[in-house]
Amino acid sequence: MIGVVITTPLQSIVVRQDRDISVVRRAVSTHAERLNLSVLSRTRLVTASSELTRNMLVYGGGGVVELKVYRDGERLGLGATFADQGPGIDNVEDALADGFTSGVGLGLGLGGARRLVDQFDIQSSEVTGTSISVAIWLKDDGR
Ligand SMILES: Nc1ncnc2c1ncn2[C@@H]1O[C@H](COP(=O)(O)OP(=O)(O)OP(=O)(O)O)[C@@H](O)[C@H]1O
Ligand SMILES: [Mg+2]
Repeated sequence: MIGVVITTPLQSIVVRQDRDISVVRRAVSTHAERLNLSVLSRTRLVTASSELTRNMLVYGGGGVVELKVYRDGERLGLGATFADQGPGIDNVEDALADGFTSGVGLGLGLGGARRLVDQFDIQSSEVTGTSISVAIWLKDDGR
């Protein structure tokens, strides 16, 4: 993470089943609009959140999504943390590579999500499960 980032919680969503993915998508979209993110930024964050929530369900057995405002000095952003208490990711570097899957997916979700956002941090272990934090900053013109 760059600089000292202060975060303010916005909303917390428990993810247990497929339909919670659309709850997360809608919540991210709503907060992005409130913060006046551009349509492109909003779409990037919604898409990344969708993939990370699906992974949380499929591989982590569900978990919690925390939406928050990020502030780094004057800069504002919208962030989300996806935390599960599943088995963790064996090898994060492998998992991020396009085409790597331990399941039946295309293996594009994690690497794709990383490319879509401005900040992307993974913490994962067998003991703690997986926690992935992402954020998109508002652009200088306020969008
Ligand atoms: N929350 C998680 N807990 C444990 N393992 C995970 C988690 N998220 C991802 N992984 C591991 O990382 C791999 C790559 O994830 P990625 O989202 O890129 O691909 P996928 O889910 O297999 O397929 P796709 O997303 O393209 O449908 C997964 O196959 C899984 O092994
Ligand atoms: Mg996936």
